[in-house]
Amino acid sequence: MDLESQTKTFDAYRFSVAPMLDCTDRHFRVLMRQITQRALLYTEMVVAQALFHNKNHNNLLQFDDIEHPIALQIGGENPEFLVYAARLGEEWGYDEINFNVGCPSAKVQSGNFGASLMARPDQVARCIEAMTNSTKLPVTIKHRLGIDDLDSDELLRKFVDKISNAGAKRFTIHARKAFLKGLDPKQNRTVPPLQYERVAHLKELRPDLIIEVNGGLETIEDCLKALDKFDGAMVGRAAYEHPMRWGRIDEIIFKEPQKIIKQSQIIRQLLPYAEKHLSNNGRIWDICRHLIKIVENVPGASKWRRNLTLESQNKFANLKVMEIAALQLEEAGL
Ligand SMILES: Cc1cc2nc3c(=O)[nH]c(=O)nc-3n(C[C@H](O)[C@H](O)[C@H](O)COP(=O)(O)O)c2cc1C
Repeated sequence: MDLESQTKTFDAYRFSVAPMLDCTDRHFRVLMRQITQRALLYTEMVVAQALFHNKNHNNLLQFDDIEHPIALQIGGENPEFLVYAARLGEEWGYDEINFNVGCPSAKVQSGNFGASLMARPDQVARCIEAMTNSTKLPVTIKHRLGIDDLDSDELLRKFVDKISNAGAKRFTIHARKAFLKGLDPKQNRTVPPLQYERVAHLKELRPDLIIEVNGGLETIEDCLKALDKFDGAMVGRAAYEHPMRWGRIDEIIFKEPQKIIKQSQIIRQLLPYAEKHLSNNGRIWDICRHLIKIVENVPGASKWRRNLTLESQNKFANLKVMEIAALQLEEAGL
């Protein structure tokens, strides 16, 4: 990695776009890269066991060079599979390996990983240590405040201490607990209250740990406020649903010169990428399903989104669809 890239990767976690299954695929990440060059982008969670058993890794690991800095998030509970996944992550050129200990879905619980691992700190430590020893990349963790009745400041501190001793380089804490029984993943992102103060308390007790806070951050101002107390701010749904809202992140959070990009420019910049995707038998919809999010709160937005959806879902759709969408935005001054 050259010096410039190293500098850019070094503090990228100050603002990151959260891992989100079915959302933060490589097409969305490439879109987000038009908006911010500095944020850390996370992949969707990739299950280590799936990587181990499925030898064609292209679908699960492929990414474009412009996506750097990028963290590969992996899920699992078996150190052998996780080591395999972490090594693959390094071979494929990711910048960081992130371990998922926050997902509460039934499927993930039935595999004994994700948030349910918070009940097994020793196992998490084994996993982190095994990965740390097998890759040069930083190994980081994303987790909750607690789960079910295992939810106190003391347990959280002990958990973090153990994982830090095992070698984790950064903690991303979704500032709410998860209920493994009784709530589905969606409810687990809204029903348990956000408790930033508990993450702040942990940071006070452990000032040397790098702690990134996540959950409910809606605006750049929210993130700036979070950065007063924490080392990083991670945004999930608000980044996916409103990508343009984050257009000044590089300037405000990373102190880069101001660079405002218009929606039509984003589409035009994505044309070579889309062309490459089509030539690899991809569909234009794979890209446009994310692209529709860049226009909102302006007259004609729903019509533009509806048209782009309909046109790009056509199985014969080609680059023209994106060119027309860009032209319409240019005519509207966007
Ligand atoms: C559709 C969706 C998929 C998600 N998938 C993952 C995932 O793969 N790995 C993970 O650690 N968290 C996942 N999350 C949780 C987010 O990373 C984040 O922790 C959560 O949405 C709270 O942040 P927010 O309030 O900024 O959205 C997902 C969230 C959503 C909405």
